[in-house]
Amino acid sequence: MKILITGAQGQVGKELTYVAKEKGYDVIAAGRTDLDITQAQNVKDYINHIQPDIVINAAAYTAVDKAEEEHDLAYAINHHGAENIARSCEKHHIPLLHISTDYVFDGSKTEPYSEKDTVSPLGIYGESKWQGEEAIRQTLNNHLILRVAWVFGAQGNNFVKTMLRLGKERDELNVVADQYGGPSPAKDIAKTLIILVDQYQKNKTLIWGSYHYCGTSKTTWYDFAKEIFEQALEMGLINKKVKINPITTAEYPTPAKRPGNSMLDCLKLKTTFNIEMPNWRDALNQVLTELK
Ligand SMILES: NC(=O)c1ccc[n+]([C@@H]2O[C@H](COP(=O)([O-])OP(=O)(O)OC[C@H]3O[C@@H](n4cnc5c(N)ncnc54)[C@H](OP(=O)(O)O)[C@@H]3O)[C@@H](O)[C@H]2O)c1
Repeated sequence: MKILITGAQGQVGKELTYVAKEKGYDVIAAGRTDLDITQAQNVKDYINHIQPDIVINAAAYTAVDKAEEEHDLAYAINHHGAENIARSCEKHHIPLLHISTDYVFDGSKTEPYSEKDTVSPLGIYGESKWQGEEAIRQTLNNHLILRVAWVFGAQGNNFVKTMLRLGKERDELNVVADQYGGPSPAKDIAKTLIILVDQYQKNKTLIWGSYHYCGTSKTTWYDFAKEIFEQALEMGLINKKVKINPITTAEYPTPAKRPGNSMLDCLKLKTTFNIEMPNWRDALNQVLTELK
């Protein structure tokens, strides 16, 4: 079975390519230079030429703060890029697995967000991702949208790698302690998507729709940072203790507002596909080992 992965050079895209190849799939890993998803005609021609059995869209504009300035680019990629792929998939009757974000929610709920909760993005990134989701829903029946959160891994840029870099440069760091979420390991997101591909291959269909997936248990950026430095020190990745000070969101103003709570309720994915949420502390240990 042939899988087309778009955004294959991103942190999830790279893990997807690795996991899919390891399972023996015929993988076309298209980075931005191979396929720019904002170019509708190129997307059409590429999908027509490749004729994949399934497409996984891991391409996205992910710079949450910069999106507040680069509206057009964020929408071109996250909304219209997703729509371009969905249109070609519809034309060729190809299913699409698409990744979206917890930042479609505003964080006003105290409990984890389920797929039925109303979205209300606080910034351009979340809004553009939501528009992309909606475009897919309106274009293509055979789609599965997996919303993930706080992605980290050994590849690409993410919070873990930023903390390790800052921890080497400084003795003390301030980290926001009033935003709650579930850090999601890129490798586990990739494994989950490939399990869905396995099921599609076996059954020639899937229970299409929108699903949530993130790491357990609920934490804050502050506690996530503390755990990163504790594990990194224990493993010898850093050679000194770094003092982490908890601060509030108000003390760390950013161009884009972020939800105070974006923990995702992943029960639907578990009951439908028997997929468990990963323990982010264990996954962090694996990522740090890989980085070492
Ligand atoms: N990162 C997070 O914390 C987070 C949280 C929640 C949800 N997500 C979602 O998870 C998915 C994967 O994100 P990620 O963390 O792997 O992001 P990432 O590391 O930023 O990867 C995104 C990839 O998309 C590529 N891309 C950008 N514009 C493109 C275009 N026009 N055509 C083709 N490719 C393009 C990027 O290429 P360049 O590097 O050349 O720009 C990059 O390789 C995304 O849907 C994202 O919205 C991420």
